[in-house]
Amino acid sequence: MKPRILKIDPLNIDLELIREAADVINNRGLVAFPTETVYGLGANALDPKAVAGIFEAKKRPLDDPLIVHIAEIADLYELCDKVPRNIEKLLERFWPGPLTVVLGRSRKVPEIVTTGLDTVAVRMPSGKIAAELIKAAGVPIAAPSANLFSRPSPTDAAHVIEDIGEAVDVVIDGGQTEIGVESTVIEFDDGRAVVLRPGGTSVEELRDFLGDVEVLSEKEVCERSPGKYPRHYSPRASVMIVAAGETQTEDVLATAGILSAADKKVGVLATQEHAETYRDPAVKVLGPSADPRICASRLFKVLREFDAEGFDVIIAESIPEEGLGLAVMNRLRKAAGPEAQSAS
Ligand code: TXA
Ligand code: MG
Repeated sequence: MKPRILKIDPLNIDLELIREAADVINNRGLVAFPTETVYGLGANALDPKAVAGIFEAKKRPLDDPLIVHIAEIADLYELCDKVPRNIEKLLERFWPGPLTVVLGRSRKVPEIVTTGLDTVAVRMPSGKIAAELIKAAGVPIAAPSANLFSRPSPTDAAHVIEDIGEAVDVVIDGGQTEIGVESTVIEFDDGRAVVLRPGGTSVEELRDFLGDVEVLSEKEVCERSPGKYPRHYSPRASVMIVAAGETQTEDVLATAGILSAADKKVGVLATQEHAETYRDPAVKVLGPSADPRICASRLFKVLREFDAEGFDVIIAESIPEEGLGLAVMNRLRKAAGPEAQSAS
């Protein structure tokens, strides 16, 4: 089955098309839609049968919980018990936007959404198409990223169609997403914010507002949370990361040389500054290392391009882990997987 594709201009939203997509949500269907971060695969969060369709379409393991998307802060109270007061202030500052909070779930939230956990992840997206869709549907929308499980998240409708087009009813094509990496996921430990997944809201912004914020390492997240898989966001090619430093370009070239000699098709994911250095092997630019926002917005798209061109190995230069650079490096490390060796 081919999905119905609804092209909607985020700057001039056609509410009739939004209505059509909302009707699909209300009839247990699946709608892929753009948010400010990545495309989501949405279903009525209060309907367990509809939510089951998400797991099937993505081939997602049933122990990996979903994020519930809402249109107003007030909607949080339906989904969560005991929302602490200091969290309300935080949400007034960061919502709508790329921040997901994990709080105690109310009984209204079906178990399949939270995969049996007593917490639920909630976010209020700032993407206008997403906000209008949730409003029109009149229900919270459960939506993971609209990629096939373990592939890079989709930042364009074409990525969604390529991965799971056959399995969804409607794809809203709202063009490229703005941020390009997923939302930051936080939980609270005795009132203290703990980052489970770095993302579109930077840790620096959170610290400016909250003071103390703990960031778990990827290893700690895997140990502490259910449904966290060490290899994720992966292109088909294997990914190797080369640390920044004086010998970075030499290390990249040496690694590329060894792999090419072993008959591997090798590509380099380079910072803009170094792109010129890598004429051969094939190079794609991530972005300027001083501008992690640009790197974040391009990351998943470029990983998919390497795949489309049949590369075996991607050698990626690291960028500073500041601002969205932390999310970019987190995704690159997940793409590389736990067995990945840094080439320097
Ligand atoms: O930007 C985003 O967050 C995108 C767009 C579509 O909103 N969504 C997204 O969803 O990235 P997904 O399913 O790909 O990632 C959800 C993350 C996972 O890391 C999951 O483990 C975590 O949220 N999560 C969900 N519920 C949780 C819970 N109750 N406790 C801890 N982590 C949870
Ligand atoms: Mg995902």
